[in-house]
Amino acid sequence: MWAGRFSKEIASDVNDFNSSISFDSRMYRQDIAGSIAHATMLGEQGIIDPSESDVIIAGLNGILEDMDSGSLKIDPSAEDIHMFIEAELTKRIGDAGKRLHTARSRNDQVALDLKLYLKDETRDIFAKVRELVVTVTDIAKQHLDTVMPGYTHMQRAQPITFAHHLMAYAQMFTRDMSRLADCYRRMDVMPLGSCALAGTTYPLNRRRTAELLGFSDITLNSLDGVSDRDYAIELCSALSMLMMHLSRFSEEIILWCSWEFKFIELDDAYSTGSSIMPQKKNPDITELIRGKTARVYGDLQTLLTMMKGLPLAYNKDMQEDKEAVFDAVDTVKMCIKTFIPMIKTMTVNKENMRLAAAKGFINATDCADYLVRKGMPFRTAYKLTGTLVALCIEKNTTLEQLPIEEYKKLSELFDNDIYDAISLDHCVMERNVEGGPAPEAVKAQIAELERRMAGIAL
Ligand code: ARG
Repeated sequence: MWAGRFSKEIASDVNDFNSSISFDSRMYRQDIAGSIAHATMLGEQGIIDPSESDVIIAGLNGILEDMDSGSLKIDPSAEDIHMFIEAELTKRIGDAGKRLHTARSRNDQVALDLKLYLKDETRDIFAKVRELVVTVTDIAKQHLDTVMPGYTHMQRAQPITFAHHLMAYAQMFTRDMSRLADCYRRMDVMPLGSCALAGTTYPLNRRRTAELLGFSDITLNSLDGVSDRDYAIELCSALSMLMMHLSRFSEEIILWCSWEFKFIELDDAYSTGSSIMPQKKNPDITELIRGKTARVYGDLQTLLTMMKGLPLAYNKDMQEDKEAVFDAVDTVKMCIKTFIPMIKTMTVNKENMRLAAAKGFINATDCADYLVRKGMPFRTAYKLTGTLVALCIEKNTTLEQLPIEEYKKLSELFDNDIYDAISLDHCVMERNVEGGPAPEAVKAQIAELERRMAGIAL
C-alpha cells in the first residue's frame, strides 16, 4: 500500500506482529457497511463521480456476499481487515476502488467499525440481560411464599422468601440494562470524517454518513474522534459489573447445591460428574461463570492501562483494544446463554429452605419486636431476647418450643400470642414495608420492576 515511500517489503515476522487481521476480520460486515455509506456520501457530494460511487458500492456488496458465503477467503498476511477489503475491491473493480479511501483514514475507519460492531453487540447483550431478568422474575413469581433464611456474614439472620432473594438479582440485572443503555448512547456517535486526526479539506457531509449508518450524532472533534476508546472501556466496565452480579448469583447456587444446604438441585444437563468419585454432581457451570468474571475484569484492566499514557491522537497501541473488548463481549454472551436455561431447569427444594429457616433463631428480632409492641424499649427487649436464645441453646430447644412459663420468668409481658408472633410465616408476612419480603410487598416490587424495565431502551 505504501510502496511509494518504501524501498523494501516489511519483514515477514514483523508483518505478523503488526497485523490485526486474525482478530479484526470479525468486523468485515461493519467495515463494508461503513465503506458503502462513505462512498454514497462521496458520490452525493460530487467528491467522486456518482457513477464511480455506484461501481464501488456494487463491488463492496459483491465482497460482502462472497465473505458471507465463505467463497472469499481472508488473506492472513493482510495487515488488517480494512486493507484487505480495499485491496480486494481494487482487484475487482480497478481504479474506482482506489477512490474509496478519499477523505478517510484507517484511524477514523477503525473507530467507526468498532463502534458499529459494539453497538450490535451491546444490543444483543441488552436483549439477553432482559431475558435474564424475565427468567428470574418468572421463577420469583412461583416462590412468593417459599420461606428461606436470609443471611448476613453467612449466618442465618432473618426470614425472607426465595422470591425476595431472587428479585434482589433482578434489581441488579435491571441496573445492568440501564448501564448498557447509557453506554450505548455515548457509543452512538459517528467518527468518520475525523480522517487521520485533522479532518479533511473535502466538503464531506458527515451528518449524511451518520444518517446512512444509523448513528444519532457525529463526533465534534477530529482528534477525539480517532483517539477515543471510552465506549469500549465503558462497555467493558458495564460488562464487568454484570459479571460480578452473575458471579455472586453463581456462588450462591454453588452453596445451595451442596449437601450442607440442599436448597436447589441443578438439572443433569447443567452439571458434571467426577472422574473418580461416583457420587459427585458438580456445579461446574456456575464455577466457570465465577472464574470467567476474572477474564472480563482483566479485559477492562487491559483497556484502561493501554489507554492511560497515549498522547493524542491515534497510536498503534490502540489496536490492542479489540481482542480485549471482543473477549469481554464473547464471554458475557456465553455466560448468560448458559445461565438462563440452567436456572430455568433447576428444582427448588422448598422443604429444606423452610427447615433451614426454622433453625438458627432467625425469629429472634421478631421476639424482641413483640416486647417492643407491648411497651418495652427496643434495647431492653433485644437484651432479654438474647438471654432467651442462650437459654434455648442451653436446653437444646427453639423459641417456638420454649414453654410459656420460661418466657414469663423473664418478662410478664409475654403471653400465649408470642408463639404466633414468632411463627415463621408471621415473621415473613409482617415484613410488608415497601421493598420487604412479605408476599404482597414482593408482588408490588415485581410489578414496579416490570414497569421500570419497560422504560429502559436502547
Ligand atoms: N489495524 C489498526 C487498528 O486496529 C487500524 C489501522 C490504523 N493503523 C495505522 N497505522 N494508522 O487500530
